[in-house]
Amino acid sequence: MEGIEAMHSNTKSRLVTLGIVALMASRALYAQDAVPPDAAMKKAVETRQAVLKLIDWAWQPVAGWMRKKAPFDAVAFQKSGARIEFIAPLLPEVFATDTRQAANVKTQAREGIWSHMADFKAKADELVKAGQALSAACKSGDQAATMKAARGVGKACSACHDSYKDKDI
Ligand code: HEC
Repeated sequence: MEGIEAMHSNTKSRLVTLGIVALMASRALYAQDAVPPDAAMKKAVETRQAVLKLIDWAWQPVAGWMRKKAPFDAVAFQKSGARIEFIAPLLPEVFATDTRQAANVKTQAREGIWSHMADFKAKADELVKAGQALSAACKSGDQAATMKAARGVGKACSACHDSYKDKDI
């Protein structure tokens, strides 16, 4: 009798353990699939747009020169390149929150970002390299080399925008 009872309680405790493990596993799955709360998604959108505004701010002095709206300024453009190189690595991080299901937020981000994160990251890396090349070219003071490097930055911006950003309305 005693033996049977011991067996019984053993089976019972095994079942309980199994139940707990299953519950934990389903919770883990739920946590993975869960959509972030609206407030978190709104904040994520605001943060990434702020980073892009900052990149744009760093870039504008060079863009103005390319459009012949400002004179060549090696020191300022070197700073632009260095700033872009410094800020661009943040892009994959500030896009880590999947906001595909965000309601009532204005965003130009395309859904493909979260299904092609490796490519998105590669495009951010291209911008890092282009920023580096721009500041290196400015150091030489060579305008032709600077223009070539600046075009490289412009290309890195549009390569990502073409795939992952909605057109401006
Ligand atoms: C790796 C991808 C990527 C790269 C590289 C990139 N962008 Fe963007 N950019 C985006 C996405 C995606 C958005 C839309 C973000 C949103 O609305 O949530 C955006 C939005 C913007 C915006 C609008 C920000 C706002 O006010 O909401 C500006 C300005 C901008 N980018 C400028 C630039 C410039 C300038 C460069 C290059 C120096 C650049 N971007 C490089 C992906 C990129």
